[in-house]
Amino acid sequence: MTQPEDPRILELRKIRAKAKESGGAERNAKQRAKGKMTARERVEALLDPETFNEIEPFITHQGDELGLLKEKFYGDGVITGYGQINGRTVYLYSQDFTIYGGTLSEMQSHKICRVMDLAVRNGVPFISLIDSGGARIQEGVRSMGGYAEIFRRNAQYSGVVPQVSLMLGPCAGGAAYSPALTDLVVMVEKRSFMFLTGPEVIKAVTGETIDAESLGGAAVHNSVSGVAHLSVGSEKEALETARLFLSYLPSNNVENPPYVQPSDSPSRMDEDLNRMIPLDANEPYVMRQVIEKIIDKDTFLEIQPDWARNAIVGLARIGGHSVGVVAQEPSIMAGVIDIDAADKMTRFVRMCDCFNIPLATFVDSPGFLPGVAQEHGGIIRHGAKLLYAYSEATVPKICVITRKAYGGAYVVMSSKYLGTDVTYAWPSAEIAVIGAEGAANILYKKQIEEAENPAAERKRLADEYREKFNNPYYAASTGYVDDIIEPRESRPKIIASLSALRDKYAPAPPRKHGNIPV
Ligand code: HXC
Repeated sequence: MTQPEDPRILELRKIRAKAKESGGAERNAKQRAKGKMTARERVEALLDPETFNEIEPFITHQGDELGLLKEKFYGDGVITGYGQINGRTVYLYSQDFTIYGGTLSEMQSHKICRVMDLAVRNGVPFISLIDSGGARIQEGVRSMGGYAEIFRRNAQYSGVVPQVSLMLGPCAGGAAYSPALTDLVVMVEKRSFMFLTGPEVIKAVTGETIDAESLGGAAVHNSVSGVAHLSVGSEKEALETARLFLSYLPSNNVENPPYVQPSDSPSRMDEDLNRMIPLDANEPYVMRQVIEKIIDKDTFLEIQPDWARNAIVGLARIGGHSVGVVAQEPSIMAGVIDIDAADKMTRFVRMCDCFNIPLATFVDSPGFLPGVAQEHGGIIRHGAKLLYAYSEATVPKICVITRKAYGGAYVVMSSKYLGTDVTYAWPSAEIAVIGAEGAANILYKKQIEEAENPAAERKRLADEYREKFNNPYYAASTGYVDDIIEPRESRPKIIASLSALRDKYAPAPPRKHGNIPV
């Protein structure tokens, strides 16, 4: 005779069902009324079907500060565990806003740190689904210490496994600092906010009046502050973006990025490329179109597309292999490098280097942006970061000079002696210390002043200079570029170079760590 079902198993089922109720029917309804998914729905939508395994679902908060014991919830406001994305394991946490506003308690931090540690131990990415009011006020220093535990891990695991943050609600205080330490921050338009101190505190302290959206909404952090990397229209898109981003990255810093069989022939040459650079050097063209014509079709994931738009950074595939693309956009501010552009490119170069993603740099820049605001804002320090990042990066580095590479912009943008492996120039390349008119004015000041017709003399001397320097042949004759190629040859040339560099070995002298001018 079989015995009746064990009541202890029935009890387990009851507890599990209770845990799935989150903060209760009323709070769940409130969450939905805001158009938000629940923490559990987000996890299911992010991962490959039926791959999620939850861990530590029975944890509850401890202590009874300010009457906390009146309400205890299984999981303590965060769901943690592991699952798969495109068949590869990831660890994650998903904060549950229906439980104490998803706020961080000491026990919640223990749960989060546990999955962070497991992710690193297993060499796989870590994803944060953040929807939180920050530190749980009732727990005082215990919640703040909990954040410190998370931040320390964000920092120590940076460059070890990819870390992705999806901002899915109000993310205040500590809930904003942790993502700032990660590789990718995705915000949802009109849904997510990030700030250290909210509108009410700002009003009290500085007297400024501002709403949450204008203070720390997706638009602000994606176009003004540069805190976020991508802005999307819905939570579903944020989850899809995380999956897409990770498809370009290896699971950890000792693996190579996954190879994806390209549908695009490696030998394809786009004839349009030979007609894209205007004959007049002052006329703009769109570098994003150049990039699209060189990489594998439809593989460009631009990062920070709305911030510092004079620079372009993004992940792509070329010949099926991941590549980090860095470029100037000559159609925006002539592709000049300013403080924000330098910061944007630096961070991206370093991320690619962490995760063994080769760099392809396309240069068309008249130089660093002149001006008091830029100098006083520390453009030397910010530009130095870019020098530092390119010099330090040991991944294969390819550089293509499409047009202007003047002065500092030539040097910082992956120039040959910063350690770039292959440098190509198009016939339209202009590689010089400064532009022709400026050079004539400085070098031949007296001669121009004393000439019968100074304007004609200036033009003659500038033309002479242009003839000598405003082309790639002088640079090629001195070995500063490796080859001059037709624009349409760029794709097969880059694919061949990267293939030859696949086993690049570039050991650096041992050190604790460098001192990048942040
Ligand atoms: C405890 C909190 C909480 C908090 C919200 N709740 N924030 N509980 N600690 N920090 C609770 C509410 O009491 C409420 O509980 C539930 O979460 C939902 O909150 P609402 O206010 O009803 O929701 P909403 O109107 O959507 O507003 C969300 C919010 C707001 C914008 C996040 O609650 C808010 O401003 N909270 C305070 C944010 C903050 O200042 N945090 C501390 C940051 S300092 P019930 O029971 O009603 O559902 C920090 C220090 C870290 O994080 C240090 C690192 C640098």
